[in-house]
Amino acid sequence: MTFKQAVLGVAVVFMSSLAQAGVTKADWGKTADGTPVQIYTLSNENLTVLITTFGARVVSIEAPDRAGKKADVVLGYDSLKEYEADKSTYFGSIVGRYGNRIAKGAFTIDGKTYHVPLNNNGNALHGGPAGFSSKVWVGKEIPDGVEMTLVSPDGDMGFPGTLTARVRYTVEGKSLKINYIATTTKATVVNLTNHSYFNLAGDGKGTILDHVLMMPADFYTPVDATQIPTGELAPVKGTPFDFLKPTAIGARINDTNEQLKIGGGYDHNWALNGAGDGLHVAAKVYEASSGRTLTVTTTQPGVQFYSGNFLDGSKTGKFGVTYQKYAGFCLETQHFPDAPNQPKFASTLLKPGETLHSETVFTFGVQK
Ligand code: GLA
Repeated sequence: MTFKQAVLGVAVVFMSSLAQAGVTKADWGKTADGTPVQIYTLSNENLTVLITTFGARVVSIEAPDRAGKKADVVLGYDSLKEYEADKSTYFGSIVGRYGNRIAKGAFTIDGKTYHVPLNNNGNALHGGPAGFSSKVWVGKEIPDGVEMTLVSPDGDMGFPGTLTARVRYTVEGKSLKINYIATTTKATVVNLTNHSYFNLAGDGKGTILDHVLMMPADFYTPVDATQIPTGELAPVKGTPFDFLKPTAIGARINDTNEQLKIGGGYDHNWALNGAGDGLHVAAKVYEASSGRTLTVTTTQPGVQFYSGNFLDGSKTGKFGVTYQKYAGFCLETQHFPDAPNQPKFASTLLKPGETLHSETVFTFGVQK
């Protein structure tokens, strides 16, 4: 190698660390009703992320381990058909119009009561049976990523107003950023989040019980037997819900505890200490065998930490491995569940003329 080549090499490496993520698009088949679906690849020197227009879902995230070896760290499927057939896991999707639960599917705005079809123990979960996770979004390439748009008509799943939702996924450095934007034509309730299941050892590599989790939250919202918040903000102190200090997910998951019994593990909303201060930490996770870390920051006040309790071995993922209980965990940044019926929780009301903005950032690192 000549000096000139070496210098050029350095320049290229330097430039590539600042370079924009490459974005490509490909067809990904058609839904059962014939709607064409695409898949986007966002990639830079750190991450390769696949996102499909079906449910605006994250299909794959390849991130390096401490030796630089990349592996896919989210659960999911190989094909559109499998995503369409799965009505219960919400793998990688954007859930909405109202992510998480609304008690009895009912809420009242300006004296009028609206009903969302029930799909979870007498409640509405993730926007009802045909929520945003099952819709085909419209993808558009943007710098470093893709913008997904969905126009949800007035009355869609019982919600008032035409809601235009935009979700921007961008890959920047070691982060996957998600920006949410929404506007409406009538007052409605909105709670948008991403429902990726992570396994930092790699998709299909056993359970997440050894992953070490930290969540800066002094309080969480306990639930009734149907997983609707009681309205109380309960201190985590002295309970298995205390993740203020990094603790293995599995360390207390089988403790005798009424709340853990209800969800079959963790499936609760934590009230984040940093809420109200722009981007703040929702969670940090570390997996020792790979050295991978995940840091989640968000502008949202809460996070649903779900330990994959309802995975039961009936679904087979991208790498041919059946997903057993605890095969992945979700960190769904959000407004609190059932906020439309809980006057003490921050409001999820969106009115015409207002624009909803929120941001969540997933950063993948390593610990030596
Ligand atoms: C959310 C809910 C869980 C479960 C999963 C999907 O995390 O809180 O109860 O429904 O979605 O299985």
